[in-house]
Amino acid sequence: MIVSSAEFVKSSTEVKACPKGQYPEYAFIGRSNVGKSSLINKLTNKSKLAKTSSTPGKTQLINHFLINEQWFLVDLPGYGFAKMPLPVKKKMEVMISQYLLQRQNLMNIYVLIDSRHQPLDIDIEFMEQLAENQLAFSIIFTKADKLKKRKLEDSISKYKTKLSESWEELPAMFVTSSETGSGTNLILNDIESINTLFHLD
Ligand code: GTP
Ligand code: MG
Repeated sequence: MIVSSAEFVKSSTEVKACPKGQYPEYAFIGRSNVGKSSLINKLTNKSKLAKTSSTPGKTQLINHFLINEQWFLVDLPGYGFAKMPLPVKKKMEVMISQYLLQRQNLMNIYVLIDSRHQPLDIDIEFMEQLAENQLAFSIIFTKADKLKKRKLEDSISKYKTKLSESWEELPAMFVTSSETGSGTNLILNDIESINTLFHLD
């Protein structure tokens, strides 16, 4: 799929305030600083569409972007950012979980994982919660440019082994870099194929 237009629509503090759900929607989620906003910018070829920062905790709201006037891409705040004051953290967790559970047009959740990291409980538990709630998700490994090919393969293979301990069937997985753009086409193609399944009830 070619991205011909990408527009910021709205930042929302809760699911009730999100734009009308007339389009299929895809959310990017993962730990703070994993590269959610950067990947959105790379996918859309707009370097300043979503706000990025080297300091974790940059994205704090539910941000909707309309792509090709046909589907929404959603940038969510990261989870597991230790330095955030507890009440703010709690509020954000509620905002994210209500959004994930209640957004009717949400077609797939992309869980972003830093390809350099060992499997972390916080990510595994998050994916388990998605599965328990029957929410469809895929994994996107980010920052692939930061590892040599061999190390990258090892890291992903370790991740698969860890997931296989508790999952019979593994989710779809993508390996990306927002520096080089590698893997971004596969994500756009994935979205394109899921878009065809969207029906307004
Ligand atoms: P929060 O909004 O704070 O949750 O973070 P985020 O997940 O949106 O991360 P963001 O896109 O802001 O990126 C965090 C940092 O990682 C920035 O300094 C980015 O430049 C860097 N980064 C993101 N993706 C990549 C990548 O693919 N390669 C490299 N080398 N750096 C990346
Ligand atoms: Mg962000």
